[in-house]
Amino acid sequence: MATDPGILPGAVRDMEQEDLEAVLAIEKATQLTPWSSPHFRDCLGNANYLCQVVTENDEPVAFLILSRILDETHVLNIAVSPARQRRGIARALLQQAIRDARADAMSVIYLEVRESNLPAQSLYRSLGFEVCGLRKNYYRLGDGHENAVLMQCLLTSGHK
Ligand SMILES: CC(C)(COP(=O)(O)OP(=O)(O)OC[C@H]1O[C@@H](n2cnc3c(N)ncnc32)[C@H](O)[C@@H]1OP(=O)(O)O)[C@@H](O)C(=O)NCCC(=O)NCCS
Repeated sequence: MATDPGILPGAVRDMEQEDLEAVLAIEKATQLTPWSSPHFRDCLGNANYLCQVVTENDEPVAFLILSRILDETHVLNIAVSPARQRRGIARALLQQAIRDARADAMSVIYLEVRESNLPAQSLYRSLGFEVCGLRKNYYRLGDGHENAVLMQCLLTSGHK
């Protein structure tokens, strides 16, 4: 079986303004209600946010945006270019985020995910996230809405 390339060493770095075009292309290709450019610019300008890209030939193929407030980390956005999905990139990014949060003595990581997004929920569960709530009609979906599932990863519970 071919070796899964995953994230190559040195391929994760902080997101820069120059990455925004490629990041927006990934966002539009993967999200039902994509963030716009100002969303990403606000994140880049906020000292409490961590914005990372995974690159191939210095071109972003995935990104992760976290906010870190007191002892809580929030996963705000994560996406992998369709052509690079299912290679372990999102898993590796989140595993590193969990290790970093632990190292900084944080107690919990929160995220929200569309109720219909079963692939992402499966990924989060495999990393130790569990459902902790539901926001009714939180996301737009066509002419209607869909619920957000709230998930948490308790960093004191011995996961990963
Ligand atoms: C969700 C997403 C970030 C996963 O990225 P990825 O790099 O492809 O994920 P990984 O390769 O690390 O997959 C890890 C696990 O996630 C689950 N998973 C990922 N994609 C899946 C799919 N299409 N179907 C079912 N399970 C899937 C599997 O459990 C997988 O483990 P496995 O490959 O050993 O079975 C990616 O599919 C994506 O960008 N989706 C669109 C944006 C999005 O939904 N973001 C999350 C918003 S909350």
